[in-house]
Amino acid sequence: MIRRLQDMIVDEKTVFVRLDCNVPLDGTRVRNTNRLQGALPTIQWLLEKNAKIILASHLGRPHGQEDLSLSLEPVAHALAELLDQEIVLADNCIGDGVELLIKGLRPKQILMLENLRFHPEEEDCNAAFASKLSRFSSVYVLDAFGAAHRKHASTYALASLYEQRCMGMLVAKEVDMMDQLLSPTHPFVAMLGGSKVADKIGSIEALLKRADCLLIGGAMAHAFHAAQGQSPAGPAARSDIDCARKILQVARARGTDIVTPIDMVDGFDIGPQTVALFQKRLDIAKLIFWNGPLGFFEKKPYDAGTQAIASFLSGRDNTIVGGGDTVAAVEGFDFKNLSTGGGAILEYLEHGSLPCIDVLKLHARERDNLKND
Ligand code: 3PG
Repeated sequence: MIRRLQDMIVDEKTVFVRLDCNVPLDGTRVRNTNRLQGALPTIQWLLEKNAKIILASHLGRPHGQEDLSLSLEPVAHALAELLDQEIVLADNCIGDGVELLIKGLRPKQILMLENLRFHPEEEDCNAAFASKLSRFSSVYVLDAFGAAHRKHASTYALASLYEQRCMGMLVAKEVDMMDQLLSPTHPFVAMLGGSKVADKIGSIEALLKRADCLLIGGAMAHAFHAAQGQSPAGPAARSDIDCARKILQVARARGTDIVTPIDMVDGFDIGPQTVALFQKRLDIAKLIFWNGPLGFFEKKPYDAGTQAIASFLSGRDNTIVGGGDTVAAVEGFDFKNLSTGGGAILEYLEHGSLPCIDVLKLHARERDNLKND
């Protein structure tokens, strides 16, 4: 049993919320606020309940060193604007100064801790560091779906220090979307793009078990064309071709259709005939999962295939879009089911859950305590 935020009594309590605010920056400005928007429902709920709120996140990969270019200051600023609410940023995530700020929190106040990864203990999943983070808060909320595949101190070790722990609203929404993909309605079409096949082999195999059809676009199409004995329109690594061959074999044995591009534009995008072919398959799907841009979408005119498919699917609520690049590529179109996860989605598909979500499960003793409350 994993509780959701709505199951918890948080009124006037000090609540530790682990977010994934790992967002792209333009100098000192947040370039894309998707992940921050995703965090709003949980924070707003806690504000309505008069909770005292501690927000914590990593940003980038400072490798255990304080790196001021990766300070959470721009994030705190952007979140404060989105919420129209003051957020105080601490200059560290542990220590006497931070503890004083936490103890001084009043209901409806928000304190954001500085980048957790300024301390090597975060990525080492250090128990003593987790224990310091947990001081003076009584509820733990995991709302960092994008980082829930990382067994770090704040995402994993910390959770079990709280009897009052739960998924935040973003994680709950993401889990519901992932569960749809794991037990799909049919026909289920998975559309994959991007470059690497080998990195995604586990999740592609998991999709093969469930999907009726796989549409392959982006640079990974080159590896599939090579594995099909066609001459690819662009380069493909040996490891990717080997994986593509394996995937084609499994698909043949299962009777799953794999559709590869029938025309490409300079090897950098799917062509108009492929767009039409993909649209035909997508049109009859009851559930669609889209991961990976279908071309080199950052450079015109190679964004045309991705844009055409995004426009075709825009407004349909049967489409789940995942992966940072894919979400960026469909910006401006109407997609309701956007995941904030990248690696996290792929690992969820492969393993059927994520370690930092599993650790939220209550043990028998804790369930008994709840019944006796
Ligand atoms: C992400 O952006 O995928 C998550 O925030 C995890 O970041 P990481 O790959 O640096 O652990």
